[in-house]
Amino acid sequence: MPQTVPCDLSLIEPMLDSLADVPGSLIAILQETQEAYGYLPMDAMEHIAQRTGTPIATIVGVATFYAQFRLEPVGKYLIMLCQGTACHVNGSELISAAISDELGIEDGQTTEDGLFSLKHVACLGCCSLSPVMMINGQTYGSLTPDKAKKILRGLAAQEQEGGASA
Ligand code: FES
Repeated sequence: MPQTVPCDLSLIEPMLDSLADVPGSLIAILQETQEAYGYLPMDAMEHIAQRTGTPIATIVGVATFYAQFRLEPVGKYLIMLCQGTACHVNGSELISAAISDELGIEDGQTTEDGLFSLKHVACLGCCSLSPVMMINGQTYGSLTPDKAKKILRGLAAQEQEGGASA
């Protein structure tokens, strides 16, 4: 699992200064917080509880209820693998197995190097391309297990090149 580092609460302080006392703003606060850290760190939720006077249980309840919120850091590349009907019929399970085989992660997990996260999602809205995955907003369709692995290797290679030239 990726390591969680203590979060820098000053990142959300200005936002809390303007929203903490505004009734009904909890969702907006959590959205802004996720924007700042990429997910909702427990430290940040505790701080939000203090600043807004909302019980921590309520905040965690809201954060876990809405699918838009993440409670764990996600990798640099978020792989959203469609599990909708068309994709399922056309082999999304094989694609999932290929991704797990290539990266060593299952649905909801992130690689040790923090590069890839895998998330199974409902229909991505491009069923004619099934099976489909979306990585950081880019759609990859008509997948086969080999094709999916090649795409992941391509991204990993790109990262290494980027790292080498940095
Ligand atoms: S079922 Fe996968 S995109 Fe619609």
